[in-house]
Amino acid sequence: TVYDCTIIELDKHHSERKGNISVIENDKTIPFEVKRVYYLYDIPGGEERGAHAHKKLQQLIIAASGSFDVILNDGNVKRRFTLNHPYQGLYVKPGIWRDLGEFSSGAVCLVLASEVYDEADYIRDYNDFLNYKNR
Ligand code: TYD
Repeated sequence: TVYDCTIIELDKHHSERKGNISVIENDKTIPFEVKRVYYLYDIPGGEERGAHAHKKLQQLIIAASGSFDVILNDGNVKRRFTLNHPYQGLYVKPGIWRDLGEFSSGAVCLVLASEVYDEADYIRDYNDFLNYKNR
């Protein structure tokens, strides 16, 4: 359910003069091994992304810069998360519909994924998603 999707606080190394660094390591910080990294950027104001679910894929979504909202939906319950800190990641389990929006200008949405890209893992139709959940 959406209650299994939580904000993971990432390692943050702070230097008064030189800024911050955050680190994610396989099987330590997050409950999966990273096979793919991608990022969304140059998203025009008012645009929405996502609008799909995955059958198998686990993800960690990070606002590497700027801010945006992620709405998670398990078919029963919706939860909205505002991501606006580079030291936090939203862990998204398989079988969750996600909508992304409210992107600030300059926002970078960094995604760590447990699998390589596979279009067959996507559910892109909302009714298909509901059928999949109630199968
Ligand atoms: P999609 O996942 O639908 O984007 P979003 O959820 O951010 O709105 O992907 C958009 C396009 O990019 C789609 O045509 C497939 C392609 N794509 C890849 O080729 N490889 C990838 O790893 C990803 C995430 C997308």
